[in-house]
Order: sequence, then C-alpha cells, then structure tokens
Amino acid sequence: MRATRSSISPTTSPTTKRSGFFSTREKPAIKSAERRKTQEFAFDASDFAYLQKLVKEKSGIVLTDDKQVMAYSRLTSRLRSLKLDRFRDYFELINRPGSDEIDHCLNAISTNLTSFFREKHHFDFLAKTILPAVQKRATRQKNLRIWSAGCSSGEEAYSVAITICESLLSSAGWDIEIIATDLDSNMIKTAKAGRYRKQQLTSSMDDGVIQRYFDEDGSYLQAKTRLKSMISFSRLNLLGSWPPFSKFDLIICRNVIIYFDKPTKRTLIDRYHQALSTEGHLFLGHSEKMDDPKKQFTSLGKTSYLKAG
Ligand SMILES: C[S@@+](CC[C@H](N)C(=O)[O-])C[C@H]1O[C@@H](n2cnc3c(N)ncnc32)[C@H](O)[C@@H]1O
Repeated sequence: MRATRSSISPTTSPTTKRSGFFSTREKPAIKSAERRKTQEFAFDASDFAYLQKLVKEKSGIVLTDDKQVMAYSRLTSRLRSLKLDRFRDYFELINRPGSDEIDHCLNAISTNLTSFFREKHHFDFLAKTILPAVQKRATRQKNLRIWSAGCSSGEEAYSVAITICESLLSSAGWDIEIIATDLDSNMIKTAKAGRYRKQQLTSSMDDGVIQRYFDEDGSYLQAKTRLKSMISFSRLNLLGSWPPFSKFDLIICRNVIIYFDKPTKRTLIDRYHQALSTEGHLFLGHSEKMDDPKKQFTSLGKTSYLKAG
C-alpha cells in the first residue's frame, strides 16, 4: 500500500517553521554558502515527521527522533541525483503514481551492518545441536530448510551454508535449501554476487575454510559456485505477504526487529512461529530477546528459541 498525501501529510506551522536542523530564530544569519554546506536540501521538522511515518508504514523501521541528522545524510545522494532541492519535493515524487522511489528511499534508510559468523554462538549451536537433531529425526526425507530473514549483503546466509558444508550433512545426500531475503535490493545484489573484500573474511575464518569456499580475485574473495548454489537470495519486505514457503527448520532474523516497534515485533514473531516446522528453531539478535516466549517458544538462552506448541 503506497502512502498518499491524504494518509501522510507534512504540515508546517508558521510558529515552529524550521530551517534544516536549526530554527531560523536560533541561526538567523547563515550565509548562503554556509547554508549550502550545513543544509544543502530543505529538510525541516515536519519533513522528518513525514519521513518517520512513511518509513514506519512501508518497512516497520522506527526512525526515532534522534535519527533526524542520520536520515537527512542517508537520503541526500538521492535528492542530489534527482536534482531536487527540497525533501518536500522528494516526498511528492515518492507518492507519484507508478514511482518506485520508495524502494530507493528504504534502501538508503535501512541499516545494513553485518559480518561473517556474526554472533558466532548461533553457528556453533547450528552445527552442534540443530544439525544433529535434524539428522536424527530424518527418516526417508532428508530435507533441511533455513531462512535468513533480513540477510543484508549475504554474509549471514553464506556463514550458514559454510557451517552446513563443514558438518556431516553435506555429504549425506540431503536436500538443503537456504532462503535469504532482505528489503534492500542493493544488498540482495551484493549478496547474489558473493564477492567480498578479503579482510571481511580473514577475521572470522581460517585460511583452510576460506580456500574451500572462496576463490581469490585480487583483494576480493569470490564465493564458489557450490556455496552460492545452496542459497536463494531475493528481495522481501517482512511486513508484506510472504510466498507460500514450506516450513523451516530454522529461521534466523537477527538485528532486524530491533528497528521495529512492539506490535510489529509481536506480529512478526507470530508469523515466524507459523512458518517453522515442529521442533523448528528461531535465532534473534543479541539485543532482541523475546518479552514472553512461553506460549510459542522455549528459550534456549543466547537468543536461540525452540518452537513450542
Ligand atoms: C543490521 S542488518 C542485519 C543483517 C544480519 N541479519 C545480521 O544480523 O548481521 C538489518 C537488515 O534488516 C533489513 N530490514 C529492515 N527492515 C526490513 C523489512 N521490513 N523487511 C525485510 N528486511 C528488512 C535491512 O535492510 C537490513 O539489511
């Protein structure tokens, strides 16, 4: 559902009219060159309020009041390339019928920080607890399905694939599917390419592992086809409808719901519960502990959860 002027409308009150981040009363004498440096594009408090509402509605991401400067700086290159002077005009463009600018806006606004084997204890838990349990209960059908939800540039999904390959599962004729999705289409492009700067890998993997799964390409390492073929990357907004997924043995959604408000988190966790197989697991990020997992999940510590009921 696209935001329209009627659903989200910037308002400017003459008494609170602000020039960029400073009220005109606070900074009355800014010269034009100086003004260009401090505030290249017109962005006042009402523009930020509009952006907060738009981003929340479209992605679930809550831009708290202290994020005004960050939001401005993340969007300036869009306005520059579109040759716009005011955020007000940028919002008009977003709302124009047929415009896909909201996707670029969300790409710019989302925080994509990630790394290989981030929060390593989850990969140890996958190797030592989940994979042996899945192997044990598999009889005729040897399927393993994992979802990296909010995968950013792919490091999390590749870390999962490497963990599986390094375990016994890879050689035992298993049907392994790793689905990796993110809202940010630029991140999905990077993830699909599977090409990373060397130093992104050397801090978390030893040379032997790197050589088994990556090919050298100057100062980059390229994921081998065997590794890439284990993962399907695609763009997906977690707030929207999901494709008819088969049930997952593990859903990894780390450092994503931290940006959402409580009702959005709750809804998403309910949906993950439904998307998991019996005895499926859910990993959240280190600061995303579930408030009350009792009914749906059993906490196994360190933001690892087992589906209950
Ligand atoms: C900080 S990164 C976390 C990456 C990885 N899971 C990790 O822990 O290293 C958060 C990711 O969540 C994605 N994201 C935010 N809102 C989303 C939404 N509504 N649907 C899908 N992905 C979303 C962002 O684009 C971003 O790439």
